[in-house]
Amino acid sequence: METTDVLILGAGAAGLFAAAEAGRRGRRVIVLDHAARPGEKIRISGGGRCNFTNLSTAPERFLSKNPRFALSALRRFTPQDFIARVDAAGIAWHEKTLGQLFCDGKATQIVDMLLTGAARAGAQLVTGAEVGAVRREGGRFTVESSRGGFAAGSLIVATGGKSIPKIGASGLGYKVAEQFGLPVLETRPGLVPLTFAEQELERLRPLAGVSVRARVTCGKTGFDEALLFTHRGLSGPAVLQVSSYWREGMPITVDLARGQDVAAALKAARGAAGRVALQSALARLLPEKVAALALAEAGVDGAKRLADQGNPVLERLASGIHGWVLRPVGTEGYRTAEVTLGGVDTDALDARTMEAKAVPGLYFVGEVVDVTGWLGGYNFQWAWSSGWAAGQVA
Ligand code: FDA
Repeated sequence: METTDVLILGAGAAGLFAAAEAGRRGRRVIVLDHAARPGEKIRISGGGRCNFTNLSTAPERFLSKNPRFALSALRRFTPQDFIARVDAAGIAWHEKTLGQLFCDGKATQIVDMLLTGAARAGAQLVTGAEVGAVRREGGRFTVESSRGGFAAGSLIVATGGKSIPKIGASGLGYKVAEQFGLPVLETRPGLVPLTFAEQELERLRPLAGVSVRARVTCGKTGFDEALLFTHRGLSGPAVLQVSSYWREGMPITVDLARGQDVAAALKAARGAAGRVALQSALARLLPEKVAALALAEAGVDGAKRLADQGNPVLERLASGIHGWVLRPVGTEGYRTAEVTLGGVDTDALDARTMEAKAVPGLYFVGEVVDVTGWLGGYNFQWAWSSGWAAGQVA
């Protein structure tokens, strides 16, 4: 049995960051991961460029039973703090949109930065380690694994969520939490494409590949971003964002012409060039296939001249475009979800340190905790901030 000060389960974003922080304090750290390579999710993140933080990071950008829980860690290790690390590593970056920061080059630069940080701090990384029994005996934790047994006074669980099992996601962190008596809130896929019943899909499919700027709303929450029609349903940032708020049976409302007044624009066009077909006038406001869909949904003949359309028809068409109601039947699930909602109940954790209140020396960081960010770099910022917090004390 190899003995160390801090044992970390999971060499992902939060685990590697915590390892470097604890190691810097002179703690002996061992990180165990069952995957062959560490940081796989970082590698594929942000379309290969890693959206590593967001300048608008604030508790409102996170879903949690207690959204205030994240505040302490996010304030103590901020996006600016992480940017300073990225700058110090010589990694060039840019703001894409909405405060989202991406590497100019590849996401692997972030993985390399984390691995270098952990190695410099003396942390030892053990990959290909299938984790078996986790126990607490005489105030220290022991972990059995296919790469041997390990014992430590502090155990940091950083095994992430259930999203994308193909690249190593497992429910281990939730199991460990339950084993030690911590409540785990129901988990579900978040930031995930929405799926539709065959009948609805038949109308959407011809638009597969079309993207439109939209406002997508579910309940009281709405997002103004791109919407993408796919063969399986709807995706794109606006839909992924709203999927985290969607529950079975809820409708979503899509404004396909966000920021435009379609009725006014069509009436103005009718005044200026009434001989133009309605579908042609509408195609100046929306992508052509979306215009065709909107006409079909409203049951309006787009081939007719604008001059022959009365105000009620144009207004009905416009109100359908601004308030298209759809009923998803599900999501694509953990196979494609970017994150897992729910997880270790924050009530059971100390917001400053991420330590389990009832189990001294046991910490939970990153996605395994019931803190889930919006799309746009928030989830990595949570991984850095929570990993940093545990790394200061474990
Ligand atoms: P993470 O998943 O990073 O790490 C967990 C580690 O634990 C993994 O290395 C895994 O192998 C290991 N592990 C799991 N089970 C284990 C077991 N049983 N035994 C041993 N080890 C085990 N976020 C963001 O802010 N910006 C972005 O650009 C993106 N992009 C993105 C793209 C895609 C395709 C996905 C799926 C996700 C994103 N995300 C994102 C979300 C982000 O990747 C995620 O929130 C963080 O990686 C979470 O960090 P963690 O360290 O908590 O888990």
